[in-house]
Amino acid sequence: MNKKAILLAGGAGTRLYPLTKIVCKQLLPVYDKPMICYPLATLMLGGLREILIISTPKDLPMLEDYLGDGSQLGIRIEYAAQPKPEGIAQAFLIGAKFIDGAGASLILGDNIFYGKLDFYRAALAVERGACIFGYQVRDPERYGVVEFGRDGRAISLEEKPAKPKSHFAVPGLYVYDERVTEFSRMLKPSARGELEITDLNRMYLDRNELHVKLLSRGMAWLDTGTQASLLDAGNYIATIEHRQGLKIACLEEVALRVGFIGELELERIIDRLPKGEYREYLRVVCDEGPRSVAPEPEV
Ligand code: G1P
Repeated sequence: MNKKAILLAGGAGTRLYPLTKIVCKQLLPVYDKPMICYPLATLMLGGLREILIISTPKDLPMLEDYLGDGSQLGIRIEYAAQPKPEGIAQAFLIGAKFIDGAGASLILGDNIFYGKLDFYRAALAVERGACIFGYQVRDPERYGVVEFGRDGRAISLEEKPAKPKSHFAVPGLYVYDERVTEFSRMLKPSARGELEITDLNRMYLDRNELHVKLLSRGMAWLDTGTQASLLDAGNYIATIEHRQGLKIACLEEVALRVGFIGELELERIIDRLPKGEYREYLRVVCDEGPRSVAPEPEV
């Protein structure tokens, strides 16, 4: 199984200025927690415990201050800098030592997935090739776009095409086999000077080794790229959390439910938390025990 993951929290966040003048995009709130909690929770729910967070030199100290070495969550977090926004696929060059010749997942720090994550767990079990996903959106021109042939196989991939060939965007969650670093080294910068993730995926497509799975309509893949979509994402999370009385992507809860930490460790975390709603929530989670919301681990 593919055990390592890179969480890319880079970029200047220009579209969210002036919010991103103060703090990086991935630390902005999505309702009641920083944005990065959502993609990190996705990786943890996939069962991954070895994570490299890549961000700008300016933002790394703040991310590190928040998440530390991950041991409190039963995971191991390393950090590395991407000095300039030179593309998503550059993550594999920056993270070459961390990956160390193995395969790896990559998740973008501004991507929020909510729903059953079976599709991700299935992708992690694939031995050879790369797995990416497709999700129907109204405005595919804002994303990487995948086109399917009559037999349902992917036939083309384009990055932010002016005239998209389908309505299926490629979300920022990718799973690669052990050739990912080697392939990334072969990439040339695009016209905008970036190592494009779509070019990397195309290398697998050209070799007939790209698996593309459509996410079901019931899945939510939320956008946080603009002020309006960030607010929509926050409202979405708030709606579900208020309805159920459960939190989405509460990292300490996720760690307990997937068995990365036990109730004793959670107790210790709670003792150090400031008084407030988050602490009270975790108190209830801890008192109920790890199996209170069985059988699905999704949180
Ligand atoms: C990036 C990728 C794009 C992908 C998107 C998902 O775009 O280049 O292929 O569909 O993430 O969030 P960006 O967010 O850098 O505009």
